[in-house]
Amino acid sequence: MITIEALQRYFDGGDERFYALKDIDLHIGRGECVVLKGVSGSGKTTLLGIIGGLDKPSSGKVMVDGEPISKLPDLHLSNFRAQKIGIIFQHYNLMDHLTSRENILVPLIPVANDMHRVEEMTDAAMKLASISHKADMQTSRLSGGEKQRVAIARAVVSDPDIILCDEPTANLDRENSLKFIESIQMLHQLGKTVVIATHDPLFDDLPFKSRVVHLEDGRLV
Ligand SMILES: Nc1ncnc2c1ncn2[C@@H]1O[C@H](COP(=O)(O)OP(=O)(O)OP(=O)(O)O)[C@@H](O)[C@H]1O
Ligand SMILES: [Mg+2]
Repeated sequence: MITIEALQRYFDGGDERFYALKDIDLHIGRGECVVLKGVSGSGKTTLLGIIGGLDKPSSGKVMVDGEPISKLPDLHLSNFRAQKIGIIFQHYNLMDHLTSRENILVPLIPVANDMHRVEEMTDAAMKLASISHKADMQTSRLSGGEKQRVAIARAVVSDPDIILCDEPTANLDRENSLKFIESIQMLHQLGKTVVIATHDPLFDDLPFKSRVVHLEDGRLV
């Protein structure tokens, strides 16, 4: 599902070149759940950003479900992302002045042509993430765990094959973190390919099959 070959991502500053990702080769199969570990600054967010088409490699090849994601033209890329990839960001990245429902349907905008279908998909995502009861509340008023569930619903609303999660439990207490893991288990059982960047030791022993990949100074170790 995800094939990365000889990936480099560097940033030039003055006369120094800083490698955030170096010589990455990684293959993630359809339906796999991969936990990406590494200390702060090791390149986890950069790698997720490249897989998710939010950032481009400096060199190397990145294929997502057979498409060269870093080479797709912008319009094609936004459609591809809307249909294939759901992202749960560390700080949720919700639009706090909108309601839960409004936040959740945002990824459908590039691909929507039937408002009735948009409503159905939004309702299904809210049900899956157990947040239907807060559908019409402004997300600024939600608790941390509830915001997280809105973020999960938004990530799954278009029924994407791939779910990327960046430090998904960083701002959650243990109970909500365990609930998050249950949601991930359910998505995994639905056949989604899941990649989770995290420091959280709760992910060391997931109750379902997963693979741990370690990043150190931008390299896989
Ligand atoms: N746009 C940028 N310009 C310059 N350096 C960058 C840029 N983006 C990332 N970096 C650098 O790349 C390295 C990896 O950053 P990244 O955010 O991927 O780390 P991370 O593993 O997600 O860390 P954390 O656990 O703290 O979230 C860092 O040293 C960071 O400063
Ligand atoms: Mg990060």
